[in-house]
Amino acid sequence: MTITTCVFDAYGTLFDVAAAARAAAAEPGNEALTGTWPKLASDWRHKQLQYTWLRAITGAHTDFWEVTQNGLDWAMEAAELNDPQLRERLLALYWELASFPEVPKMLADLGQEGKSSAILSNGSPEMLAGAVESAGIGEYLDEVLSVESVGVFKPHRTVYDMVCNRFDCAPSEVLFVSSNGWDAAAATGYGFTTAWVNRAKEPVDRLPWVPQHILSDLTTIPDLARDL
Ligand code: LAC
Repeated sequence: MTITTCVFDAYGTLFDVAAAARAAAAEPGNEALTGTWPKLASDWRHKQLQYTWLRAITGAHTDFWEVTQNGLDWAMEAAELNDPQLRERLLALYWELASFPEVPKMLADLGQEGKSSAILSNGSPEMLAGAVESAGIGEYLDEVLSVESVGVFKPHRTVYDMVCNRFDCAPSEVLFVSSNGWDAAAATGYGFTTAWVNRAKEPVDRLPWVPQHILSDLTTIPDLARDL
């Protein structure tokens, strides 16, 4: 099956979500984060994602900015950090996350190959616009799809439906790329061709479906999309 369209998860896949806590820890006055920022970043991310699943299951949708703040509040309390200024700084940094270094060239190469490229993310349109702009990758993307159009978080099927509705293609023509093992697995179940970017070398999630390809970063995506 020819791949016509490459669709990327945003946070953790194109944008480095640990960068906010890492950058804050390096700033004067935030010495409390020295040595502890990796756990804060990890707790923040895990709680943020748990809240998306719980809100999807219970039908209590809110936008990703709200669950991002809720996740940080949980993580800061767990770390015994009661520091409103630090909270504001961490949240501000989330709007200007760096992309992983290989992202611009990878997206440019996909364009050269004639593939369409898009983001499909839990992020709100405003958050995604901020991240795309600060990473300077807008020129390479044909579309930025946010779950706010359907009002439920991944991995609900209506989120994945947005891709073929937009690009008028069959699911198997889509190479869906995510750094979240559960997202790549659910996308396999949906019918997309899938790649899991497993930078942290995590075990495969025990779900009814598995990612079809497992990569260590995004460098080889254009080759994979061409050769499939
Ligand atoms: C996203 C989250 C799941 O961008 O990383 O959708």
